[in-house]
Amino acid sequence: MKKLINIFLKKEVNSIPPIWVMRQAGRYLPEYREIRSNVNSFLEMCYTPKIASEVTLQPIRRFGFDAAIIFSDILVIPDALGVKVEFVKNEGPKLGDFDLSNLKTQNIKSHLNPVFEALELTKSKLDANTALIGFSGSPWTLACYMIEKGGSKNFEKTRKLAIHDSKYFSQLIEILTQSIIEYLSLQIKAGADVIKLFDSWASVLPPFELQKWVIDPTKKIVSELKKLHPNVPIICFPRGIGVNYLEFVKQVGCNAVALDQTIERNWVKRNLQQDCNAIIQGNLDNLLLAFGSKKEIEKEVMDILEKFAEKPFIFNLGHGILPETPIENVELVINLVRS
Ligand code: CP3
Repeated sequence: MKKLINIFLKKEVNSIPPIWVMRQAGRYLPEYREIRSNVNSFLEMCYTPKIASEVTLQPIRRFGFDAAIIFSDILVIPDALGVKVEFVKNEGPKLGDFDLSNLKTQNIKSHLNPVFEALELTKSKLDANTALIGFSGSPWTLACYMIEKGGSKNFEKTRKLAIHDSKYFSQLIEILTQSIIEYLSLQIKAGADVIKLFDSWASVLPPFELQKWVIDPTKKIVSELKKLHPNVPIICFPRGIGVNYLEFVKQVGCNAVALDQTIERNWVKRNLQQDCNAIIQGNLDNLLLAFGSKKEIEKEVMDILEKFAEKPFIFNLGHGILPETPIENVELVINLVRS
Protein backbone atom coordinates (compact mmCIF):
# COMPACT_ATOMS: atom_id res chain seq x y z
CA MET A 1 0.00 0.00 0.00
CA LYS A 2 1.39 3.37 -1.02
CA LYS A 3 0.63 5.69 1.84
CA LEU A 4 1.07 8.79 -0.28
CA ILE A 5 -1.44 7.54 -2.89
CA ASN A 6 -3.93 6.51 -0.21
CA ILE A 7 -4.12 10.09 0.98
CA PHE A 8 -5.49 11.05 -2.42
CA LEU A 9 -7.70 8.01 -3.01
CA LYS A 10 -9.57 7.85 0.20
CA LYS A 11 -8.99 11.34 1.52
CA GLU A 12 -8.80 9.50 4.79
CA VAL A 13 -6.88 10.69 7.76
CA ASN A 14 -3.98 8.44 8.48
CA SER A 15 -3.00 8.63 12.08
CA ILE A 16 0.54 8.84 10.72
CA PRO A 17 0.94 11.11 7.68
CA PRO A 18 3.22 10.15 4.79
CA ILE A 19 6.56 11.95 4.82
CA TRP A 20 9.20 12.86 2.23
CA VAL A 21 11.38 15.95 1.88
CA MET A 22 12.13 18.28 -1.00
CA ARG A 23 15.64 17.76 -2.43
CA GLN A 24 15.90 14.58 -0.37
CA ALA A 25 18.61 13.30 -2.71
CA GLY A 26 21.43 15.78 -2.35
CA ARG A 27 24.58 17.08 -0.82
CA TYR A 28 23.61 16.58 2.85
CA LEU A 29 24.04 12.82 2.19
CA PRO A 30 27.61 11.41 2.14
CA GLU A 31 26.56 8.69 -0.31
CA TYR A 32 25.34 11.43 -2.70
CA ARG A 33 28.57 13.43 -2.38
CA GLU A 34 30.52 10.26 -3.13
CA ILE A 35 28.72 9.70 -6.44
CA ARG A 36 28.75 13.44 -7.24
CA SER A 37 32.54 13.57 -6.84
CA ASN A 38 32.94 10.95 -9.56
CA VAL A 39 30.98 12.70 -12.30
CA ASN A 40 31.91 15.80 -14.24
CA SER A 41 28.68 17.70 -14.18
CA PHE A 42 25.36 17.80 -12.44
CA LEU A 43 23.49 17.48 -15.75
CA GLU A 44 25.52 14.36 -16.58
CA MET A 45 24.13 12.88 -13.36
CA CYS A 46 20.59 13.81 -14.38
CA TYR A 47 21.01 12.29 -17.85
CA THR A 48 22.62 8.99 -16.79
CA PRO A 49 19.63 6.79 -15.87
CA LYS A 50 21.65 4.42 -13.67
CA ILE A 51 23.12 7.28 -11.63
CA ALA A 52 19.90 9.30 -11.48
CA SER A 53 18.04 6.22 -10.31
CA GLU A 54 20.70 5.29 -7.76
CA VAL A 55 20.69 8.73 -6.09
CA THR A 56 16.87 8.77 -6.15
CA LEU A 57 16.93 5.57 -4.10
CA GLN A 58 19.62 6.65 -1.61
CA PRO A 59 17.30 8.58 0.74
CA ILE A 60 14.70 5.79 0.51
CA ARG A 61 17.21 3.18 1.68
CA ARG A 62 18.55 5.40 4.43
CA PHE A 63 15.31 6.87 5.81
CA GLY A 64 12.43 4.84 4.33
CA PHE A 65 10.55 7.90 3.12
CA ASP A 66 7.03 7.27 1.77
CA ALA A 67 7.93 8.72 -1.62
CA ALA A 68 10.92 8.87 -3.95
CA ILE A 69 11.24 11.94 -6.18
CA ILE A 70 13.08 11.29 -9.42
CA PHE A 71 16.53 12.84 -9.42
CA SER A 72 16.63 15.56 -12.05
CA ASP A 73 16.21 19.33 -12.19
CA ILE A 74 13.59 21.81 -13.35
CA LEU A 75 16.10 23.29 -15.82
CA VAL A 76 16.17 20.18 -18.04
CA ILE A 77 13.25 21.72 -19.96
CA PRO A 78 15.16 24.84 -21.12
CA ASP A 79 18.07 22.48 -21.82
CA ALA A 80 15.84 20.28 -24.01
CA LEU A 81 14.52 23.40 -25.78
CA GLY A 82 18.08 24.19 -26.84
CA VAL A 83 19.00 26.83 -24.26
CA LYS A 84 22.50 26.33 -22.91
CA VAL A 85 22.29 25.28 -19.22
CA GLU A 86 25.30 24.98 -16.94
CA PHE A 87 25.60 24.49 -13.20
CA VAL A 88 28.56 26.51 -12.00
CA LYS A 89 29.97 25.41 -8.65
CA ASN A 90 28.94 27.77 -5.81
CA GLU A 91 27.17 30.06 -8.29
CA GLY A 92 24.10 28.07 -9.24
CA PRO A 93 22.68 27.68 -12.74
CA LYS A 94 23.78 29.78 -15.72
CA LEU A 95 21.66 29.83 -18.89
CA GLY A 96 22.46 31.01 -22.42
CA ASP A 97 20.59 33.32 -24.79
CA PHE A 98 17.65 32.09 -26.81
CA ASP A 99 15.37 33.12 -29.61
CA LEU A 100 11.70 32.37 -29.07
CA SER A 101 11.17 31.17 -32.65
CA ASN A 102 14.09 28.71 -32.40
CA LEU A 103 13.13 26.87 -29.22
CA LYS A 104 13.24 23.16 -30.03
CA THR A 105 9.79 22.14 -28.80
CA GLN A 106 9.99 18.97 -30.88
CA ASN A 107 12.92 17.72 -28.75
CA ILE A 108 11.22 17.21 -25.40
CA LYS A 109 10.68 13.49 -25.88
CA SER A 110 14.06 12.59 -27.37
CA HIS A 111 16.24 14.90 -25.27
CA LEU A 112 14.60 13.93 -21.99
CA ASN A 113 14.51 10.21 -22.71
CA PRO A 114 17.14 9.52 -19.98
CA VAL A 115 14.70 10.94 -17.41
CA PHE A 116 12.01 8.52 -18.57
CA GLU A 117 14.50 5.65 -18.43
CA ALA A 118 15.53 6.68 -14.93
CA LEU A 119 11.87 6.63 -13.89
CA GLU A 120 11.36 3.14 -15.33
CA LEU A 121 14.49 1.83 -13.66
CA THR A 122 13.59 3.40 -10.32
CA LYS A 123 10.04 2.09 -10.47
CA SER A 124 11.35 -1.45 -10.99
CA LYS A 125 13.45 -1.15 -7.84
CA LEU A 126 10.99 0.52 -5.47
CA ASP A 127 8.92 -1.58 -3.11
CA ALA A 128 5.13 -1.52 -3.28
CA ASN A 129 4.82 0.98 -0.39
CA THR A 130 6.87 3.78 -1.87
CA ALA A 131 5.35 6.21 -4.36
CA LEU A 132 7.39 7.58 -7.24
CA ILE A 133 7.09 11.34 -7.84
CA GLY A 134 7.81 12.93 -11.22
CA PHE A 135 8.14 16.71 -11.50
CA SER A 136 8.62 19.81 -13.57
CA GLY A 137 9.16 23.49 -13.01
CA SER A 138 6.11 25.64 -13.73
CA PRO A 139 6.09 28.03 -16.71
CA TRP A 140 6.60 31.20 -14.65
CA THR A 141 9.64 29.88 -12.74
CA LEU A 142 11.22 28.39 -15.87
CA ALA A 143 10.66 31.68 -17.73
CA CYS A 144 12.36 33.48 -14.81
CA TYR A 145 15.53 31.39 -15.16
CA MET A 146 15.46 31.73 -18.96
CA ILE A 147 15.06 35.52 -19.00
CA GLU A 148 17.53 36.21 -16.17
CA LYS A 149 19.92 33.58 -17.57
CA GLY A 150 20.21 32.17 -14.05
CA GLY A 151 18.98 32.90 -10.56
CA SER A 152 18.12 36.37 -9.32
CA LYS A 153 17.00 38.19 -6.17
CA ASN A 154 13.66 39.49 -7.39
CA PHE A 155 13.55 38.58 -11.09
CA GLU A 156 13.19 42.21 -12.18
CA LYS A 157 14.19 41.61 -15.79
CA THR A 158 11.49 38.97 -16.13
CA ARG A 159 8.89 41.12 -14.38
CA LYS A 160 9.77 44.06 -16.60
CA LEU A 161 9.45 41.98 -19.77
CA ALA A 162 6.13 40.49 -18.61
CA ILE A 163 4.79 44.02 -18.14
CA HIS A 164 6.19 45.86 -21.12
CA ASP A 165 5.98 43.06 -23.70
CA SER A 166 3.25 40.82 -22.36
CA LYS A 167 2.53 39.53 -25.88
CA TYR A 168 6.04 38.12 -26.30
CA PHE A 169 6.08 36.91 -22.71
CA SER A 170 2.76 35.09 -23.06
CA GLN A 171 4.16 33.26 -26.11
CA LEU A 172 7.11 32.07 -24.00
CA ILE A 173 4.71 30.97 -21.22
CA GLU A 174 2.58 29.08 -23.77
CA ILE A 175 5.60 27.26 -25.25
CA LEU A 176 6.68 26.25 -21.76
CA THR A 177 3.13 25.20 -20.81
CA GLN A 178 2.88 22.85 -23.82
CA SER A 179 6.38 21.45 -23.22
CA ILE A 180 5.59 20.79 -19.56
CA ILE A 181 2.34 18.98 -20.43
CA GLU A 182 4.20 16.72 -22.87
CA TYR A 183 7.10 16.14 -20.46
CA LEU A 184 4.88 15.28 -17.49
CA SER A 185 2.62 13.04 -19.52
CA LEU A 186 5.69 11.07 -20.64
CA GLN A 187 6.91 10.87 -17.02
CA ILE A 188 3.56 9.35 -16.04
CA LYS A 189 3.83 6.82 -18.88
CA ALA A 190 7.33 5.95 -17.61
CA GLY A 191 5.98 5.16 -14.15
CA ALA A 192 5.51 8.34 -12.09
CA ASP A 193 2.67 7.75 -9.59
CA VAL A 194 2.34 11.39 -8.56
CA ILE A 195 3.36 14.67 -10.22
CA LYS A 196 4.69 17.81 -8.56
CA LEU A 197 4.90 21.25 -10.15
CA PHE A 198 7.50 23.61 -8.66
CA ASP A 199 6.77 27.34 -8.96
CA SER A 200 9.59 28.57 -6.74
CA TRP A 201 9.30 32.25 -7.74
CA ALA A 202 5.51 32.66 -7.75
CA SER A 203 6.05 34.90 -4.71
CA VAL A 204 7.37 37.91 -6.66
CA LEU A 205 4.09 38.61 -8.50
CA PRO A 206 1.20 40.88 -7.46
CA PRO A 207 -2.27 39.21 -7.58
CA PHE A 208 -3.24 40.39 -11.08
CA GLU A 209 -0.06 38.97 -12.59
CA LEU A 210 -0.13 35.90 -10.39
CA GLN A 211 -3.43 35.12 -12.08
CA LYS A 212 -1.97 35.62 -15.55
CA TRP A 213 1.45 33.97 -15.26
CA VAL A 214 0.96 31.41 -12.50
CA ILE A 215 -2.68 30.44 -11.93
CA ASP A 216 -3.91 30.39 -15.56
CA PRO A 217 -1.00 28.36 -17.06
CA THR A 218 -0.95 25.99 -14.07
CA LYS A 219 -4.69 25.45 -14.43
CA LYS A 220 -4.13 24.57 -18.08
CA ILE A 221 -1.37 22.06 -17.25
CA VAL A 222 -3.47 20.41 -14.54
CA SER A 223 -6.60 20.15 -16.69
CA GLU A 224 -4.71 18.76 -19.72
CA LEU A 225 -2.93 16.17 -17.55
CA LYS A 226 -6.25 15.25 -15.93
CA LYS A 227 -7.73 14.55 -19.37
CA LEU A 228 -4.83 12.25 -20.22
CA HIS A 229 -4.24 10.68 -16.79
CA PRO A 230 -7.32 11.24 -14.60
CA ASN A 231 -6.04 9.13 -11.72
CA VAL A 232 -2.58 10.62 -11.26
CA PRO A 233 -2.50 13.08 -8.34
CA ILE A 234 -0.86 16.47 -8.91
CA ILE A 235 0.80 18.48 -6.14
CA CYS A 236 1.40 22.18 -6.84
CA PHE A 237 3.95 24.35 -5.07
CA PRO A 238 3.40 28.06 -5.75
CA ARG A 239 6.04 29.02 -3.21
CA GLY A 240 5.56 32.03 -0.97
CA ILE A 241 2.23 33.38 -2.26
CA GLY A 242 0.71 33.83 1.23
CA VAL A 243 -3.05 34.50 1.29
CA ASN A 244 -3.14 34.01 -2.49
CA TYR A 245 -2.85 30.27 -1.81
CA LEU A 246 -6.64 30.44 -1.34
CA GLU A 247 -7.36 31.72 -4.86
CA PHE A 248 -4.77 29.30 -6.25
CA VAL A 249 -6.44 26.29 -4.60
CA LYS A 250 -9.94 27.40 -5.63
CA GLN A 251 -8.99 27.75 -9.28
CA VAL A 252 -6.23 25.30 -10.19
CA GLY A 253 -7.84 21.94 -9.47
CA CYS A 254 -4.68 20.25 -8.19
CA ASN A 255 -4.98 17.35 -5.73
CA ALA A 256 -2.72 18.89 -3.12
CA VAL A 257 -0.92 22.13 -2.47
CA ALA A 258 2.57 22.37 -0.98
CA LEU A 259 3.17 25.17 1.53
CA ASP A 260 6.34 27.08 2.24
CA GLN A 261 7.35 27.95 5.81
CA THR A 262 6.15 31.59 5.80
CA ILE A 263 2.43 30.91 5.97
CA GLU A 264 0.45 31.05 9.21
CA ARG A 265 -0.82 27.59 10.10
CA ASN A 266 -4.18 28.51 11.69
CA TRP A 267 -5.02 30.46 8.53
CA VAL A 268 -4.18 27.39 6.43
CA LYS A 269 -6.24 25.11 8.62
CA ARG A 270 -9.31 27.35 8.43
CA ASN A 271 -9.12 28.50 4.83
CA LEU A 272 -7.50 25.67 2.92
CA GLN A 273 -8.20 22.53 4.95
CA GLN A 274 -11.66 23.30 6.39
CA ASP A 275 -13.24 25.64 3.83
CA CYS A 276 -11.70 24.20 0.63
CA ASN A 277 -11.12 20.62 1.72
CA ALA A 278 -7.63 20.94 0.28
CA ILE A 279 -4.97 18.32 0.92
CA ILE A 280 -1.84 20.11 2.04
CA GLN A 281 1.86 19.29 2.17
CA GLY A 282 4.50 21.04 4.24
CA ASN A 283 5.90 23.04 5.89
CA LEU A 284 8.80 22.64 8.34
CA ASP A 285 11.34 25.44 7.89
CA ASN A 286 14.36 24.04 6.04
CA LEU A 287 16.69 26.47 7.85
CA LEU A 288 15.37 25.41 11.25
CA LEU A 289 15.97 21.79 10.26
CA ALA A 290 19.57 22.63 9.34
CA PHE A 291 20.50 25.02 12.14
CA GLY A 292 17.88 24.70 14.92
CA SER A 293 18.29 22.84 18.20
CA LYS A 294 16.62 19.44 18.64
CA LYS A 295 14.16 21.09 21.01
CA GLU A 296 13.17 23.82 18.56
CA ILE A 297 12.77 21.33 15.74
CA GLU A 298 10.63 19.06 17.91
CA LYS A 299 8.38 21.98 18.89
CA GLU A 300 7.76 22.91 15.26
CA VAL A 301 7.13 19.33 14.13
CA MET A 302 4.56 18.92 16.90
CA ASP A 303 2.89 22.21 15.96
CA ILE A 304 2.61 21.08 12.32
CA LEU A 305 1.15 17.70 13.31
CA GLU A 306 -1.32 19.28 15.74
CA LYS A 307 -2.57 21.83 13.25
CA PHE A 308 -2.55 19.83 10.01
CA ALA A 309 -2.75 16.11 10.71
CA GLU A 310 -6.46 16.01 11.60
CA LYS A 311 -7.14 16.19 7.87
CA PRO A 312 -5.37 14.38 4.98
CA PHE A 313 -1.85 15.72 5.10
CA ILE A 314 1.67 15.05 3.74
CA PHE A 315 4.61 15.99 5.95
CA ASN A 316 7.43 17.86 4.17
CA LEU A 317 9.64 20.91 4.45
CA GLY A 318 8.77 24.45 3.34
CA HIS A 319 11.64 24.38 0.83
CA GLY A 320 14.50 22.07 -0.20
CA ILE A 321 16.74 20.50 2.42
CA LEU A 322 20.05 22.36 2.77
CA PRO A 323 23.47 20.71 2.29
CA GLU A 324 24.40 21.73 5.88
CA THR A 325 21.54 19.69 7.41
CA PRO A 326 22.69 17.12 10.00
CA ILE A 327 21.39 13.64 9.19
CA GLU A 328 20.35 13.18 12.86
CA ASN A 329 17.92 16.08 12.44
CA VAL A 330 16.22 14.32 9.54
CA GLU A 331 16.03 11.13 11.60
CA LEU A 332 14.58 13.08 14.51
CA VAL A 333 11.79 14.49 12.32
CA ILE A 334 10.93 11.09 10.83
CA ASN A 335 10.78 9.52 14.28
CA LEU A 336 8.54 12.29 15.61
CA VAL A 337 6.17 12.07 12.65
CA ARG A 338 5.98 8.28 12.84
CA SER A 339 5.58 7.91 16.60
O1 CP3 B 1 14.00 16.87 -4.69
C1 CP3 B 1 14.78 16.05 -5.17
O2 CP3 B 1 15.52 15.31 -4.49
C2 CP3 B 1 14.81 15.87 -6.69
C3 CP3 B 1 15.76 16.63 -7.37
C4 CP3 B 1 15.62 18.13 -7.57
C5 CP3 B 1 16.77 18.93 -7.80
N1 CP3 B 1 16.33 20.18 -8.13
C6 CP3 B 1 18.15 18.46 -7.71
C7 CP3 B 1 19.25 19.44 -7.62
C8 CP3 B 1 14.49 18.94 -7.69
C9 CP3 B 1 13.02 18.61 -7.49
C10 CP3 B 1 14.96 20.24 -8.06
C11 CP3 B 1 14.05 21.36 -8.35
C12 CP3 B 1 14.62 22.69 -8.59
N2 CP3 B 1 15.80 23.03 -9.22
C13 CP3 B 1 13.95 23.90 -8.28
C14 CP3 B 1 12.57 23.99 -7.67
C15 CP3 B 1 12.57 23.77 -6.21
C16 CP3 B 1 13.26 24.85 -5.42
O3 CP3 B 1 14.30 24.50 -4.82
O4 CP3 B 1 12.77 25.98 -5.39
C17 CP3 B 1 14.77 24.97 -8.68
C18 CP3 B 1 14.47 26.44 -8.54
C19 CP3 B 1 15.94 24.40 -9.30
C20 CP3 B 1 17.07 25.13 -9.94
C21 CP3 B 1 18.36 24.79 -9.34
N3 CP3 B 1 18.99 23.56 -9.44
C22 CP3 B 1 19.22 25.65 -8.60
C23 CP3 B 1 18.91 27.09 -8.25
C24 CP3 B 1 20.35 24.91 -8.27
C25 CP3 B 1 21.60 25.40 -7.58
C26 CP3 B 1 21.42 25.55 -6.12
C27 CP3 B 1 22.06 24.40 -5.39
O5 CP3 B 1 21.45 23.88 -4.47
O6 CP3 B 1 23.20 24.07 -5.75
C28 CP3 B 1 20.19 23.59 -8.75
C29 CP3 B 1 21.11 22.47 -8.62
C30 CP3 B 1 20.59 21.20 -8.01
N4 CP3 B 1 19.38 20.62 -8.32
C31 CP3 B 1 21.26 20.37 -7.07
C32 CP3 B 1 20.43 19.27 -6.83
C33 CP3 B 1 20.72 18.07 -5.96
C34 CP3 B 1 22.65 20.61 -6.55
C35 CP3 B 1 23.65 20.29 -7.62
C36 CP3 B 1 24.86 19.51 -7.15
O7 CP3 B 1 24.73 18.47 -6.46
O8 CP3 B 1 25.97 19.92 -7.53
